[in-house]
Amino acid sequence: MAKQRHLYVCSACGYETSGWLGKCPSCGAFGTLEESEVPTVQARPAAQTLPRGPEAFAALRDVAVTDDTRLRTGIGELDRVLCGGIVEGSLVLIGGDPGIGKSTIILQICQNIGQKGNKILYVSGEESVRQVKLRAERLGVTTGNLLLLSETSLEGVEQAVRQSSPRMLIVDSIQTIYRAEMASAPGSVTQVRECTAAFIRLAKGLNISVIIVGHVTKEGAIAGPRVLEHMVDTVLYFEGERGESYRLIRAVKNRFGGTNEIGVFEMRENGLAEITNPSEYMLAGRPINASGSVVTCTVEGTRPILAEVQALVAPTGFGMPRRMASGMDFNRVIMLIAVLEKKAGFQIAGYDSYVNVAGGMKISEPAADAAVVAAVASSFKNKALEPHTVILGEIGLAGEMRAVTMAERRVAEARKLGFTQCVLPQANLKGLRGVEGVRVFGAANVREMLQVVMM
Ligand code: TYD
Ligand code: MG
Repeated sequence: MAKQRHLYVCSACGYETSGWLGKCPSCGAFGTLEESEVPTVQARPAAQTLPRGPEAFAALRDVAVTDDTRLRTGIGELDRVLCGGIVEGSLVLIGGDPGIGKSTIILQICQNIGQKGNKILYVSGEESVRQVKLRAERLGVTTGNLLLLSETSLEGVEQAVRQSSPRMLIVDSIQTIYRAEMASAPGSVTQVRECTAAFIRLAKGLNISVIIVGHVTKEGAIAGPRVLEHMVDTVLYFEGERGESYRLIRAVKNRFGGTNEIGVFEMRENGLAEITNPSEYMLAGRPINASGSVVTCTVEGTRPILAEVQALVAPTGFGMPRRMASGMDFNRVIMLIAVLEKKAGFQIAGYDSYVNVAGGMKISEPAADAAVVAAVASSFKNKALEPHTVILGEIGLAGEMRAVTMAERRVAEARKLGFTQCVLPQANLKGLRGVEGVRVFGAANVREMLQVVMM
């Protein structure tokens, strides 16, 4: 008797194994492996494995390249991330936490694309047609080219696509769609992968642009967009905190362009609004002449964005001082406070320290280290820094200031917003060009940096 085969797939990263494991060996997540149906492998006809004739190959120089036809979404920040628009016949996956704004931006795209005379089919597996209509009204979506369908069966969607032959298909969300012949539940790895493969075939076969929405799930109980990344053409992730209105869209994969661009948005009452000047947005409401407030410049993709790092240092009421960081890596902040103590002689062991990046922004690059140190020092000494100064630099454990990437761009962005001084690592001074109008100070270590900014 043939032995029953099992397949377990990690819902976080897509790792496959034949036996169940508590911890995924690939991504290290616990309890994410779930049983999946073993795909039936059909024997291929022998002819396919025979050597092909020379006509089956194409010399690189003979391949004709025509410009991809792209559907512009009409939202500048999104078109920037998509390098011009959605390519016809391609499949875009938009991932993000539930409630972050995926359905909202999609309806806004529908309005713009529909107004240009393109037929769109919006399949919602989560909301009824009436609910979508109510949201569309709130967002001012009035296009007559938008067809709505509340459907969760894959066969039903395929049929609707063939009937209506749209230019663009939207599936919100992939976790609600299922193929009836498969035993597993909607949202399981097997279903999500199978349905995505079916949508890819639809996209390529009928040459329509397809956008699928995927919720990112932390628990891994439902398959997240991670397991689909390798299949689709473009993957966009929506980032941001639900309580904050600031949103980022980042391309993590793009077969038709780069992944360096980000789009910045603000969630308003009437949908997502583009923020074309994120630096200005981030610095709005910055207190002038307040201690503990420092401006730095971070780079997202290739885009410099000024950000305000705030610190509050106050005597602790506990035996052990509290440290908190929001918008930054907590461990990095503790390390920087330790460097400040040991290398610059600040006695802050008896003080609580809170560090925050204003505006709901997240900084993950070390170029903001010097700003954190300066903000903590400024709050500790209760001394406001010169308000037109930008501080850049990575800080090492020896207290040294290490060079940052794209220094010129960062300084130029600061100048654009009216900053007149910049303190940066000594190593960045060499070859720094095009910074006229900004006084630059090089610092080799934390002590020197603080000497300049605390003057
Ligand atoms: P939604 O697009 O439904 O999120 P997702 O599809 O990613 O799950 O966004 C829902 C949130 O956005 C909800 O909490 C309300 C808020 N929102 C606004 O603030 N303004 C708006 O115009 C809309 C439509 C939603
Ligand atoms: Mg939604």
